[in-house]
Amino acid sequence: MNPSTILSILFSLTLIFISHAPLPASSLNLHQTVCSETSVEYNQKYDECVKALEVDPQIPSANTYVTLSKLIIEIAIKNSTGIQDYLKILRSSDPSPAINSCAIFDFTRIIQDFKSALAIVASSPQSASNEVSDAQSRWSQCGTSIQNEPKPHYELLPLIDHVLFFCQILYKSISHI
Ligand SMILES: *[C@@H]1O[C@H](CO)[C@@H](O)[C@H](O)[C@H]1NC(C)=O
Repeated sequence: MNPSTILSILFSLTLIFISHAPLPASSLNLHQTVCSETSVEYNQKYDECVKALEVDPQIPSANTYVTLSKLIIEIAIKNSTGIQDYLKILRSSDPSPAINSCAIFDFTRIIQDFKSALAIVASSPQSASNEVSDAQSRWSQCGTSIQNEPKPHYELLPLIDHVLFFCQILYKSISHI
């Protein structure tokens, strides 16, 4: 091999190593940092978290945790509203008292809690986190009433679990403020 071939091989190898090197933590966007923390603390799947947050194209460029947390709360409000709408439809054809109380009572409170969190997150992150925790308690009550019925609608549990998913992401995001 002549020297220039060797040089060109070395150069290619260097490029391969550079492109495979792990990214330094500081190059993560804020939402990626939050998702990575959520996956460590709550065992969430990192990719699912990132995908769920990137439904809002503003999220990858959020440059403060206040902005990021607000955008995530807005997703959580939309998501819970969608779930509540679905439960209300089910309720009209299913006499289950659990579906009724989830649809009418628990999800109304969950949405209110997220809205309160949105209003105060910039000025009082700890109170916002408490609101998120209240939403999580409502989620838990809804799940308990579903499971305590004689014929539990277990198929609804993964649906309502989106509330927990967003609560966990929010605890992490708000904790940076
Ligand atoms: C709620 O969020 C989850 C996770 O991103 C998603 O799979 C689900 O479709 C959303 N549901 C509604 C009603 O927005």
